[in-house]
Amino acid sequence: MITPPGEKCGLAGLKPTLHIASDLQALARLGARSIAEQARKRVREQGRFTLALSGGRTPKVLFELLAGEFRKQIPWTRVHFFWGDERHVPHHHAESNYLMAQQTLLTPLSVTRQQIHPMRTDLSAENCADDYERRLKQFFGTGDPQPPSLDLVLLGMGADGHTASLFPDSPALSEEKRLVVAVRAHRPESHRVTLTPPVLNRAREVLFLVGGREKAMTLKQVLGGPFRPHRFPAQIVRPPNGRVTWLVDREAAGELDGFEQNAVTSRPPDRD
Ligand code: 6PG
Repeated sequence: MITPPGEKCGLAGLKPTLHIASDLQALARLGARSIAEQARKRVREQGRFTLALSGGRTPKVLFELLAGEFRKQIPWTRVHFFWGDERHVPHHHAESNYLMAQQTLLTPLSVTRQQIHPMRTDLSAENCADDYERRLKQFFGTGDPQPPSLDLVLLGMGADGHTASLFPDSPALSEEKRLVVAVRAHRPESHRVTLTPPVLNRAREVLFLVGGREKAMTLKQVLGGPFRPHRFPAQIVRPPNGRVTWLVDREAAGELDGFEQNAVTSRPPDRD
């Protein structure tokens, strides 16, 4: 487990932890182990575990592992599933983050509807965002002005440095009040709904999963370059009271000079 050199880290003053896995399978295994550990801990402490899922390709392998080899490592009946972002498409649409999670994780685990909190993409994007914000506040019952604290937020990173659906130069990056907003994504043009920095930065744990050579230059900037979150939105995730762990594969880590590399190979989950 390595903490990159703080003075060189784009998240100056914060010390994210970096694990470098040999390949995508090993990366997913690291993620599954981390989630299992946190889930058991939070369920012991508070009787539940609130987990925000990310979308895209990378987490698919992780979800399949969680529902497979790691199935017995997590008290699934105590887990509540949220989303960090969603494409504004119906839940049966091939692009839906909900659909991917349902097929690879939720259905195989027979998770009950009461534990699943999807974004209501049947509403307009704006209404979907408002509805999700209302439901987050209702679920977490945060009477205080502080946004709710998710126990663990899974995030990916695009080759442009976006995370969730916080894209470079998006006004959502400057959002200080709202917890969920509708945004426009480009290439392709689409509408999305995303958690905002205020709620992401209240997470107790953030797990970034990043794989692929095409992200190596961006990852170097995000972790080792100057703090420029409007250019590299992943940098904006800096929970003052939370822990940020970057799980990356060797390809994505290819430009990370100056960071000790700790290659982790795939190995079976720790037996309890
Ligand atoms: C989404 C994700 C998005 C994703 C990155 C990386 O809805 O697409 O939330 O932020 O994590 O684009 O995606 P890949 O894992 O497919 O590279």
